[in-house]
Amino acid sequence: MSMLNEKVVIITGGGSGIGRETALRFTALGAKVVITGRRAAALAATAAGHSDIVGLVADAADPDDAGRAVSEAIDRWGRLDVLVNNAGAGAILPLAAAAAAAAAEIARILAVNVLGPSLLAAAALPHLAAVRGSIVNISSTFGHRPAVNLSHYAASKAALEHLTRCWALELAPQGIRVNAVAPGPTESEALTGMMNLPTTQAAAVREQERQRIPLGRRGEAGDIAAWIVRLADPSSDWITGQVIAVDGGLGLT
Ligand SMILES: NC(=O)c1ccc[n+]([C@@H]2O[C@H](COP(=O)([O-])OP(=O)(O)OC[C@H]3O[C@@H](n4cnc5c(N)ncnc54)[C@H](OP(=O)(O)O)[C@@H]3O)[C@@H](O)[C@H]2O)c1
Repeated sequence: MSMLNEKVVIITGGGSGIGRETALRFTALGAKVVITGRRAAALAATAAGHSDIVGLVADAADPDDAGRAVSEAIDRWGRLDVLVNNAGAGAILPLAAAAAAAAAEIARILAVNVLGPSLLAAAALPHLAAVRGSIVNISSTFGHRPAVNLSHYAASKAALEHLTRCWALELAPQGIRVNAVAPGPTESEALTGMMNLPTTQAAAVREQERQRIPLGRRGEAGDIAAWIVRLADPSSDWITGQVIAVDGGLGLT
């Protein structure tokens, strides 16, 4: 039996892509999962047919919603073992465009990618401490590698990677492990949704990325979810403060 059996997990952004695949993998191992996101229909699609997945409409950038997500897990299942900060915001944002109109965009990216994980981690802390649980943050190759026109997204992920290391030190005395997975380009709704690219441009970006990845393909959500689950699993109990690149070698180029 998996060590994740009967464990309780919160995954932000569980209505699509990497978050959805991660939720399905946790439940396949016997865990119970609260998924959050802003679209009720997307959450319902992930949860369909899975009584151990519950969707909660919540915005990762909203301070009140962090507490609601934790309460949902505790009220329903009485404990919280794993927090996966997966919801992400981004934008193609050249510095030349970072004038007044971009101020709100920059604030939104930082709110979802940095503030949200911080508030949720804080709300989850006493419950994670009670069971010596763990946090897995989802970064990006661009959290440690520069990227043209993506500077604010990249900087927000760099912040999340450093939060991972700082929290790992800070929370180690309570037995809480904190790690991150940094995906490379991965099949999901990210290009057309999070990055708001038109379909044709998204297709061109997909092909450019595929050509740059040493192992010759873009990732699948399962490639990333497998490592999120692995890091959360109690059998990884000697690993903390690490950022695992799951990117087909892109970060080496
Ligand atoms: N796919 C890639 O190539 C790639 C590469 C590197 C890193 N990543 C990271 O991987 C994570 C997952 O992305 P993905 O690829 O799976 O993309 P995705 O399919 O677009 O999933 C992102 C999820 O986040 C949710 N979300 C966005 N803003 C939110 C908010 N304010 N509050 C709550 N939920 C929110 C979205 O749901 P709603 O719209 O319903 O809120 C969506 O389900 C992100 O952190 C992303 O930065 C992805």
